[in-house]
Amino acid sequence: MNYIRGMKSAPWWKEAVIYQIYPRSFYDSNGDGEGDLPGITSHLEYVQKLGVDAIWLSPFYTSPNKDGGYDVANPRDVDPRFGNLADAKALIVRAHELGLRVIVDIVPNHFSDQHEWFQAALKSSRGSDERNCFHFYDAKPDGRPPNNWISLFGGPSWTQVEDGQFYLHLFDSSQPDLNWENPEVNADFETTLRFWLDLGIDGFRIDVAHGLVKENIHADHPDPAGLSLALRLDVEMDTQIRHALLETVPYFDRQGVHEIYRKWRKLFDSYGDRDVMAVAEAWVHPPVNATRYVRADELHQIFNFDLLTAPFESAFLFDVINRSIELNATVNALPTWALSNHDSPRVASRIGDAESRALALFVFALPGSAYVFAGQELGLPDGPLQDSDREDPSFIRSQGAIKGRDGARVPLPWSGDTTPFGFSSGKPWLPIDQSWQSMSVGNQNIDAKSVLNLYRSALSLRALHLTGEGEITWLQSPLHGAKPDGLLTFKRGEITVVMNLSQQPHEVDIAGQVILLSAGVLDGRNGKKLIPACSTVWIHD
Ligand code: GLC
Ligand code: CA
Repeated sequence: MNYIRGMKSAPWWKEAVIYQIYPRSFYDSNGDGEGDLPGITSHLEYVQKLGVDAIWLSPFYTSPNKDGGYDVANPRDVDPRFGNLADAKALIVRAHELGLRVIVDIVPNHFSDQHEWFQAALKSSRGSDERNCFHFYDAKPDGRPPNNWISLFGGPSWTQVEDGQFYLHLFDSSQPDLNWENPEVNADFETTLRFWLDLGIDGFRIDVAHGLVKENIHADHPDPAGLSLALRLDVEMDTQIRHALLETVPYFDRQGVHEIYRKWRKLFDSYGDRDVMAVAEAWVHPPVNATRYVRADELHQIFNFDLLTAPFESAFLFDVINRSIELNATVNALPTWALSNHDSPRVASRIGDAESRALALFVFALPGSAYVFAGQELGLPDGPLQDSDREDPSFIRSQGAIKGRDGARVPLPWSGDTTPFGFSSGKPWLPIDQSWQSMSVGNQNIDAKSVLNLYRSALSLRALHLTGEGEITWLQSPLHGAKPDGLLTFKRGEITVVMNLSQQPHEVDIAGQVILLSAGVLDGRNGKKLIPACSTVWIHD
C-alpha cells in the first residue's frame, strides 16, 4: 500500500504536514453539540484537499472529560460521546483511502481518576500493588503533603485520600500521575501502543513526554511558586531567572524518560515498513535537551514550541528557527513547526491576521514537518467567550485568574450564514460567534483570496517544490544585513522565500516568478519586486 504523497525517498513523516484535529470541536454528526469520530470521517475529504499528509487526533478515549479528554479512563476504547471502536476503525480506513496517515495521542503521564487502576488503588491499602501504580505516599509528620510541588493547573499537586495518604497529580486532581518505576505501567502502555497500531494507526503524539520520571519526590522544591510561574507561557519573566528555574525541574526532562522511549522505539520498529512514527510533546530547557528525544534510537520528532510564543520580529524568529534547525541537525533529525495548538492562543489572535499568514508561508517552506491546528487554515482567532462558557481545569483551579485554553477550542464554522455554521444541528459545547460568518469553510471556498485558499495553494506548492529539498541558505537575516523587523529571506531548492515583517513595502532585487504571496499585490519597477508590508512571498527561480 502506498499512500505517500509528494515524498521523494524519505519516510513519510520526515517532512509531513500534519493536521491536528480536536475531535470535540471538528464536526458533530449527531446533533449533541460535540464533535465526534463519524463527523471527522465525513469531513476527511476536506482535510485531504487541504493538501496535508496526516491527521493527528487529540484524545477520543473513554474519559470523564475533566481535561478535554487528556484524562483517560480507558486508553483502549472510544468515549461514547465520540462514537465507538468501529467508528475509529472506519475513520482510519477512510483516511488511508484518501492517502492520509493517522496519528493518535497517547497520555502516559497520568490516567483519569476514573480508570479502573485508580479506583482499585483507592480501595486498596497503603503499600499495595494497586497503589504502587501511582505515587501514593504518607503525609509528612506535620500532616503536610509529601512535597510542596504546585500543579501545572494551579493549587497543590497532591490530594489526600480517606486513609490519609496523598497521591501526586502534576495536572488536575482527577489526573493521578502514573509510577513509571513500576514495570506494570510500562507493560500496560505497550499493550495500548500495540492496540492502536493493530487497529491501523501510523503514529503517536506523546502527551507530556518529558514528565514520566520524577526525582527527589520527598524533597521540597526551593521555589515552587517561582517554578510554577516560570512554567506558564502567559507569564513574562526575566529570561535568566526563568531558565535557571526550568533547568532543574524535579519532574520534567529527567534522564529516565529516555529509557522508556528507547523501548518504545523498538516496538515501533517491529512494525517494519509501516513506518510508525512518534512525536514528543516535551517542554525542555535548555533547548539542546530536545535533541535527546530524537536520537536515532528514540523518537522521530519533538515539537518545537518556540513559534507558539514568538513575537513577529525578525531577529527573534531568525534565532529560534536557526537554532532549531542546527540543534536537530546534530542528531540527524529535522525540526517541527507549529503556530497554534489546542493549548495556546490561536496565532491570528496572538500576532495578527496578516502576520499569521506571512509566518505560515514562511514556516511551510522550512525543512521539517509542519503542524497545522484545525481552524488555523481558516484564519480563526480565539473564540470570544464568557467566563460562564469556560471548562478548562486551569480556569477552574485558578478561580478564574488563568483564562485557560477554551478560546482556541471553539468548534469550526463550516457552512451557512448563521451560527453554529453547520458544525452541529444542536447547541455547540462552546458558542461560535456570529462574527465568524465570513470565516466559514463555505464562504472561504468561494473567495479566491481567503486564508483557506492560500493554505491550499501553499501546501500544494510546498509538496511540489520544497519537500525533500534539503537545507536553506539565508540571504537576508539579522546576520546578513536585515534591519530589525525588516526582511528575512532564504533560498531552498529553486524557491526564494522573502518575509517582510515591517509595516512598509520593501523592494528586493530577486529574479524569478512569484508563485505565492500571503497578502496584497506585488508591484515593482526595473525588474525589482516590491514586497507588500507584513507579507511573505515565494519566488521560483
Ligand atoms: C498536554 C496536553 C494538554 C493537557 C496536558 C495534561 O500538555 O496538550 O491539553 O492538559 O497535557 O494532560
Ligand atoms: Ca456528537
